[in-house]
Amino acid sequence: MLECPNCGKIESAGVVPVFCPNCRASLFAAPLSPRAGMKRAVRSKHPHPLVRYGDFLPLEGVDPSLSLGEGNTPLLELKTLERRFGVSLLFAKNEAQNPTGSFKDRGTAVAVQKARLLGFHRIGTVSTGNMAASTAAYGARGGFETYVLLKEGTPEASLRAAGIYGPTLVTVRGDYGRLFHKSLDIGKELGIYFMNSVDPFRLEGYKITGFEIFSALGDRPPGSVFVPLSSGGHLIGLMRAFEDLLGEGLIDDFPTFVGVQAAGCAPLARAFETGQNSAARWTDVRTAAHAISNPSPPAGDAVLRMIRRHRGMILSVSDEDMRRAQDLLAAEEGLFCQPESAASLAGFVKCRKLKSFRRGESAVLVLTGSGLKALQSLDSFPLDIHEFTLDGLEDGFRSLT
Ligand SMILES: Cc1ncc(COP(=O)(O)O)c(C=O)c1O
Ligand SMILES: [Zn+2]
Repeated sequence: MLECPNCGKIESAGVVPVFCPNCRASLFAAPLSPRAGMKRAVRSKHPHPLVRYGDFLPLEGVDPSLSLGEGNTPLLELKTLERRFGVSLLFAKNEAQNPTGSFKDRGTAVAVQKARLLGFHRIGTVSTGNMAASTAAYGARGGFETYVLLKEGTPEASLRAAGIYGPTLVTVRGDYGRLFHKSLDIGKELGIYFMNSVDPFRLEGYKITGFEIFSALGDRPPGSVFVPLSSGGHLIGLMRAFEDLLGEGLIDDFPTFVGVQAAGCAPLARAFETGQNSAARWTDVRTAAHAISNPSPPAGDAVLRMIRRHRGMILSVSDEDMRRAQDLLAAEEGLFCQPESAASLAGFVKCRKLKSFRRGESAVLVLTGSGLKALQSLDSFPLDIHEFTLDGLEDGFRSLT
C-alpha cells in the first residue's frame, strides 16, 4: 500500500503509482503491520540488511537471490579532516562501496523485490548515470527485461557502465523532467516497473542507510547529516529512517539534515532560501556536476516540506568547492568519490562557517558515488610524475625521500 502524506489517500501498490491522484503529492510506502520494530532489528545481527531491517520495509517477503550484497557500508571517522576543520566527530558513510559503486543500489535492491512480488517481468529507469547502472545490474541479476532511458548527451562512459549489464538502452532528446512522467505512462501501458529517482519503494531502501548510521554510532542519532541533493529521493529516504526511529521512541533529537546542491543548478536551495513551498524550474543549468543537476525535481515539494518540518537546510556549493572537497577526501582520507558526492564535504565546509559544531556533536557526510565512475573529472588535477632511468633510480629515489 502507498499513502499520500498530504491528503491521506491510500493507493494500492499494484500499478506502482508515484504521485497522489488527488493532490499530485509524492506517495510514500505505508508500513506493513504488525511489526516488531527496531528493537528486534537492533538485536538481530542478520547479515542481510533487507532481512535485518525487514520490519521497516513494505515487503511481504525478501528473495535473497535478487541481492548483489548491497549495504553494510562502513561509517569511517575522518580524523585528519576533524583536525583540519576543528571538529570532534566527523564521519563518512561510504555508499561508494555498494555493488555498482553508488547509493542507488540500496533503493534498487528494494524496488526489484517489490517488482518480483508484484509479478513484473520488466523493469526500467530514467537516469543520468548511476541509477542506470544500478537498475541494469539488478535487472540482470533478477532476470528482468530492463529498459534504461537516458538523457541525450549522457557521457559514453555512463552508457557503457550501464550497457555492460545488457539492458535495452534508449537515449531521449527533450526535456528530462517530462521524460520522468512519460516513462511512468509508458510503464503503465507496457507493464514495465519504472523505478525512478523518487519511486516510493526505492526511497524505502535508502532508509536502511539511516538505520546503519544509527547502529554504527552506538544506537544514537548523529547531530547532522550532509547529503548531495538532486531529485531528493535519497534525502527523503534518509529522513524517513529517523522518522521511524522517532516513532519507535528510540531517538529524542532529530538530526539536522543538510541537502547540498550544485550552485549552477540549485532549484531546491533557491526555494528554501526564498521561503517557497515549490521549486521553480531552473532554466540556466551551469555545472559539471551532472549527477546532481535536476532542474525540476519531481518530489521537490516533499523535500522542502520535510526539511522544514525537521529544521534542516538546503544550500548550494560551486563546482570548484566540490572539486576541492573531492581532492581533500582522497588526499587526506583515502576516499575517492565522484565530485558530486564530495558535495557533502563542500556543504559541511560551508555550513561550518555559518554555525558552530559543539564538542562531541557528530556530523556524517554521505558519500554517494565512487570516483571510479567519473575518471574524466580527474583531468583537471595536477599529476606529479618523476622519471628516472633504471641506472639513475637509486640516486633519483634518494632525492625524493
Ligand atoms: C553520485 C550521486 N549523488 C547524489 C545524487 C542525488 O540523489 P537524489 O536524486 O536522490 O537526490 C545522485 C543522483 O543520481 C548521484 O548519482
Ligand atoms: Zn494526496
